[in-house]
Amino acid sequence: MSATSIQRVLGRRVWDSRGRPTVEAEVQLAGGARGRAIAPAGASRGRFEAVDLRDGGPRFGGLGVSHAVANVNGPIAERLRGMDGADQAALDAALIALDGTRDKSKLGANATIAVSLAALQAAASAAGEALWRHLAQGARARLPMPMVQIFGGGAHAGHRLDLQDFLVVPVGADSFDRALEMAADVYHAAGRLLHEAGHLSGVADEGGWWPDFPANAAALDWMLRAISAAGYRPGEEVGIALDLAASQFYRGDAYHLAREGKKLGSAELGEMLTEWAARYPILSFEDPFAEEDWAGMAEFTKRLGGRVQIVGDDLLVTNIERIAKAASARACNAALIKPNQAGTVSETRAAFDAARAAGFATIVSGRSGETEDASIVHLACGWDAGQLKVGAFARSERVAKWNEGLRIAEALGQAEFAGRAALAPLRASAP
Ligand code: PGA
Ligand code: ZN
Repeated sequence: MSATSIQRVLGRRVWDSRGRPTVEAEVQLAGGARGRAIAPAGASRGRFEAVDLRDGGPRFGGLGVSHAVANVNGPIAERLRGMDGADQAALDAALIALDGTRDKSKLGANATIAVSLAALQAAASAAGEALWRHLAQGARARLPMPMVQIFGGGAHAGHRLDLQDFLVVPVGADSFDRALEMAADVYHAAGRLLHEAGHLSGVADEGGWWPDFPANAAALDWMLRAISAAGYRPGEEVGIALDLAASQFYRGDAYHLAREGKKLGSAELGEMLTEWAARYPILSFEDPFAEEDWAGMAEFTKRLGGRVQIVGDDLLVTNIERIAKAASARACNAALIKPNQAGTVSETRAAFDAARAAGFATIVSGRSGETEDASIVHLACGWDAGQLKVGAFARSERVAKWNEGLRIAEALGQAEFAGRAALAPLRASAP
């Protein structure tokens, strides 16, 4: 038996940042190495992503994970025992075959991603390497440009705003450390300004301020104020990124902006966003149109894709087929990469490679339901993804990720930072 053969796979129920049940997996190898990982959970999930297995019924709002945990301790443990823990492709293929569905609904993507990531952690530990280094396999690893949430809306803040995420990208930073300092300055300035104006009602699910604004565009004005109050030049030093999560307010072929009392067609929404792009230093639009509005995405990308980043999250769901479709339809120029949308590390990597092959910029992302697990920061660095999005500059499940990046920066050196060129369309035109 080799030192990396899998001796034990354990599942247990732990809790996420919303106080909901989730799955933790532990993988032990024969040589003594161990790895551990926890599945995150989305609230504004894409229709086409891999699904979590939830118990249903009255307990925990139906969100229990007893079946998913039992799948880890039962069929998954049985199947993986004796396999090579260092052969990620083989063990992910075994998980995929054992599940047998297109969306991981039999075993649960919460079970498979926890096990897949735990095995990856164990393999890195057996190799005596930090995970980011293990993933880089000698290729260049770099710290990503952070995308940091300032205001939360949509499904993460009781739909107080229709748009989901208002973020800053500290493009003027020359290191990850500096980028975090700048994000911290803007985050705190925004909180102070909102408090003074009586617009603050707590923090949203990802730690961004939960604002009480009369309209979606008001949030953009406050973003500008906060950037300036923090002492930065908007656009030049700190830009704005939006995640509209537009599927959330798309019903019956129309976009319903409840805040504005408006119902917009795809073309009208495109007009409004184009106007915003002219008025505000918006560098990145995520899911500006619904997950099935390919025409809306393609038209918008044609119009603005040469100047700003247009990201597919719910549109692409970290799925190679949807990424291939988006590439041929030119429906975006960047891909959000969320491991639990795919369900295994190997499928996540395949989606990442497909996005890169299409010339897309890539952003590794957490979910609105997170934990202390910081594996994704290692994926972002080890794969040189270029950008990282894990919420705001508050709440420990978010800050755990930023802090892990700082530890990696120490090992890698501050100069190894992807910088503003990581964003599309700059990335695509880089030599
Ligand atoms: P979710 O949202 O994790 O609630 O799905 C995050 C995002 O849309 O980026
Ligand atoms: Zn999103």
